[in-house]
Amino acid sequence: MSDTKKEVRIGLIGAGWMGKAHTVAYRNAGVIFGDDLPILELVSDVNEAQVKVASKLLGYNRWTTNWVEVVTDPDVDLVDVSTPNSMHFEMIKLALENGKHVFSEKPLSLSGEESRILADLAKEKGVVNYCGFSNVMNPANQYVKELVDTGKLGKIMRIHATYDQDMLLDPEIAITWRHKKALAGTGALGDLTSHLLSVSQFILGDIEEVIGIESLVIPTRPVEVGSSEHADVETEDLATFLVRYKSGIIGDFTSSRVATGRKNYFYYEIQGTEGTVVYDLERMGEVQVYFKSDADVDNARDAGFRTVLLNPNHAGFKWFQPAAGIAIAFDDMKTLQAHELLQALSGAPYASDFEMGAKVDSVVSAVKKSIETRQWETC
Ligand SMILES: NC(=O)c1ccc[n+]([C@@H]2O[C@H](COP(=O)([O-])OP(=O)(O)OC[C@H]3O[C@@H](n4cnc5c(N)ncnc54)[C@H](O)[C@@H]3O)[C@@H](O)[C@H]2O)c1
Repeated sequence: MSDTKKEVRIGLIGAGWMGKAHTVAYRNAGVIFGDDLPILELVSDVNEAQVKVASKLLGYNRWTTNWVEVVTDPDVDLVDVSTPNSMHFEMIKLALENGKHVFSEKPLSLSGEESRILADLAKEKGVVNYCGFSNVMNPANQYVKELVDTGKLGKIMRIHATYDQDMLLDPEIAITWRHKKALAGTGALGDLTSHLLSVSQFILGDIEEVIGIESLVIPTRPVEVGSSEHADVETEDLATFLVRYKSGIIGDFTSSRVATGRKNYFYYEIQGTEGTVVYDLERMGEVQVYFKSDADVDNARDAGFRTVLLNPNHAGFKWFQPAAGIAIAFDDMKTLQAHELLQALSGAPYASDFEMGAKVDSVVSAVKKSIETRQWETC
């Protein structure tokens, strides 16, 4: 049962997809882990009609269209930032300056430098600073980290990773904040690759240097659905880069938001001298592993990759399902995240902090810089 002792009052900024997912996760953490249910105190969204509906559906006590009221409200302990990317820096900074705990969606800001300021400020204030990298809490990734940390894969040599979706393949999809540099910062790189980078940071540690290329496939989009008026798309559809880790591991990362046929293809392969692991989020409950020892003399004929189905022996899984092969899903990762966040308020450790957020953002910034300079850049 829960170690959470204190009643926590939440102020949510941004009642869109993630705002809703976080709120559902706070509730689920209570039901699944027995965490004390946080008080849903105040919700903010610029869209008044939406915030009114959200307040009613999600169950917040009060609503406002002015986010500053959330970060300054004496009855809010934890500020949840779930707005488009460009607003994160200002919102997080003011929340921290007001002594609030902060749970922010990724990225922390539009640059590695600004995210560093936030990570340092959060440390100085001594508050909980949680960054919403959902995949870090995926039991599969926790399992892979364990395989790496315990040496079962031997010395890690390389990672090959891709995150492809075709969500924006249709050129008739209208412009959103995700297509504007001032609002999103980057396209596929920050939106998709950042998730791979959080998992890589969690499992393999710091990246030292990068070199990248990018491409924009759909340069304009209708200003709204069905409109013949078009506006420029300012963020990349595809990005690919090479990396070298501080540990000497090398790797390649690639992401596309126009990858025909790919839906949520978050895939990576980590190769070590004693084994290799392969994971694909579209088959969330399965991890492919190959151990060199499987190919020892007596078994050489039958050696090959095998499928490990996530099961109650994998961290986090047992809270949701009693046996292997029963599916867990995206919302379960968010529930695990909400649970870890709520436990952090009682002093428990957590991996996905602003330090991780700042490191991921600094890799993204370095890739962007390398695309401009056409040279290797340090993270
Ligand atoms: N961790 C994940 O798996 C994951 C998944 C999707 C999105 N995200 C991140 O979550 C964030 C939000 O993405 P989303 O998909 O929920 O977007 P969304 O467009 O669905 O929701 C954003 C909401 O913020 C509101 N908003 C805009 N400006 C505001 C302001 N000044 N004050 C208050 N509200 C404001 C919008 O009206 C909208 O309701 C992004 O930073 C994105 O990168 C993370």
